[in-house]
Amino acid sequence: MKKFWLVFIPLIVIVGAIIGACRSTGAGQPALLALAQSRGLSPEDAARALKTFVPPGGRDEFLLFASGGHSGQIHVIGVPSMRLLKTIAVFTPEPWQGYGYGADWSEIALAGGPDAEGNGTNGTNGHDAHGAAKEPLRWGDAHHPALSETNGKYDGRWIYINDRAHGRIGMADLSDFRTKQVLQVPNLQTSHGGVFATPNTEYVHISSKVPALKAWNASQGQTVTLDDHLHKYPDIYRGYSTFVKIDPATGHMLLDQSFQIELPPYTQDLADSGKGASDGFAFINSYNVEMATGGIEQGQPPVEIGASKLDFDYLHIINWKKAEQVIAAGKFTRINGIRVISLETAVAEELLHLAPEPRSPHGVDVAPRGDYITVSGKLDPHVTVYGIDRIKKAIAEKIFEGKDRYGIPILKFDAVVAGKVELGAGPLHTQYDNKGNAYTSLYLESAVAKWTLGEPYNTADKAFKLVDKISIHYNIGHLATAEGDTMDPQGKYLIAMNKWSIDRHTNVGPLHPQNFQLIDLTGPKMELIADMPIGFGEPHYAQLVRASIIKAREVYEPGTSPTTDAKSPTSIASEQEARIVRKPGRVEVWMNVVRSHFTPDIVQAKVGDKVIIHLTNTERTPDATHGFAIPTRNVMLSLDPGESTTVEFIADKPGSFSFYCTEFCSALHLEMQGWLIVEK
Ligand code: CUA
Repeated sequence: MKKFWLVFIPLIVIVGAIIGACRSTGAGQPALLALAQSRGLSPEDAARALKTFVPPGGRDEFLLFASGGHSGQIHVIGVPSMRLLKTIAVFTPEPWQGYGYGADWSEIALAGGPDAEGNGTNGTNGHDAHGAAKEPLRWGDAHHPALSETNGKYDGRWIYINDRAHGRIGMADLSDFRTKQVLQVPNLQTSHGGVFATPNTEYVHISSKVPALKAWNASQGQTVTLDDHLHKYPDIYRGYSTFVKIDPATGHMLLDQSFQIELPPYTQDLADSGKGASDGFAFINSYNVEMATGGIEQGQPPVEIGASKLDFDYLHIINWKKAEQVIAAGKFTRINGIRVISLETAVAEELLHLAPEPRSPHGVDVAPRGDYITVSGKLDPHVTVYGIDRIKKAIAEKIFEGKDRYGIPILKFDAVVAGKVELGAGPLHTQYDNKGNAYTSLYLESAVAKWTLGEPYNTADKAFKLVDKISIHYNIGHLATAEGDTMDPQGKYLIAMNKWSIDRHTNVGPLHPQNFQLIDLTGPKMELIADMPIGFGEPHYAQLVRASIIKAREVYEPGTSPTTDAKSPTSIASEQEARIVRKPGRVEVWMNVVRSHFTPDIVQAKVGDKVIIHLTNTERTPDATHGFAIPTRNVMLSLDPGESTTVEFIADKPGSFSFYCTEFCSALHLEMQGWLIVEK
């Protein structure tokens, strides 16, 4: 104990000196010492506290945009404080934001419907690619967020995220942190490869995970049998790589300008965009190139066995700039509303190549300059680093070791690999810093490995070297370093996104929180400085961006519709414009919302009437948000200052319903209520 405080006292002296220099009335050294002792903090703990503490009213340097997994949302977390700042509802209803509870903007987004300009109508809106459900989906499995980029760097404008369960992408605008669009990408049932943005957000990419039935459209009478599945799998299933065109002004996804490349029915996994030296390329990992079908009852091996027969799976290398030209030349077929380049055309046009990769890979992560592509093989203790110069040469000189059964050329492994480095058990994902280092998560070993790409980079195998390792608690999946998947990584911090937490937190029952661990990258050794329990669905990937890059607005311009980010034609400017218009079978209300009343505050309707209420929050004060909730029905809106939104419903039962403001907006918040009177 004595030795312990011998270490601690010098630290306290330093801290005390800093504080003393800054503030003559600040807490003295003995007080700090006593405080640390009283809380049972070690010197290391005290140093960690100083590294992560953000004073009351202070700001975090970075924002972490973390997927919310099957909560279907994106969580925005301040770093280094690890405080949750916001949840952006994307694929699931979220009552506080009124998302999915009647507000028109949220219903449009959740239904996967067309955007405000009518773009994105694809015939599969509101149901899956197989035409099954007409009812908008109320859940999604949010996996991989992608911030928009300019010149390969985050530009802070928009964020995209895929729904792993379905082939959907959600898009949120970071000017108001709201979801604007959910797009069901045709021909995908599930998705994993992406979302990533190309370096100037020309496209966001998403590919199928498990292959889907080829050109499937149940509404056209197609059928499938168990026999087809077991015996015709290689013929009836296909994967699809999708380049979803982004409107450079609004960030909206434009399906009619998007395209797909048909892929073999391997299971395509994670993907990343080329940049710098590899700009114009996209990389997708795959597994189950054996095309195991499952079917234990039918005498087939389980997929986990059947998919691990071969020593190699295939890295898919797509030249998307070439694909753009092929599309421009009209060499495509429109399938379910999207332009598709067939496998045959992709091969003939030399825009799709495969390279062997150690079996059952997971992450593929392009280094900041775009020169290296790191592939992690879950069952191989190495990461395999491919060189883009080597890939380009092998393609140009046709250095192939053969073709797969679909005729896709397979580049020679030795010709494209720049090196391998042994890191430990179960490498999954890699991120980079600004000093030529890479950080790879090791799932089985519960660790992060730091390794060097060599500085300056060179492609000699010896350039890749393990330099440090840190234990993680427990079973790390993805990891995020500051802007660590861009051309301008910031170093400084790493967040380990852990699948298990076991004993890290107070017991709250058998479903344990997930755990984020903050790691300081500034010293010679990586240092764990904070735990953050995550009490919601399993996060997958996250991106960490300097907070200064995000420029969100404080309030909306008067009467703004969040759907269009323009003045809503049904907004009003003040309560003088509030009114009710009755027509047979229909009541339309223009309602003003301001502290502390609704105008009008009584809405009268007859059973069976369609009630349409256009609400405008005419406040100009930041944070003067009001809610609008009607008991016994799914109407729960939230109106930020300046916002205008519309809700519609059928007054289907008689009674008197007291609607009210759900935000404690003023001293007279409780009085901010009104009545919906439905007469027989
Ligand atoms: Cu408005 Cu409470």
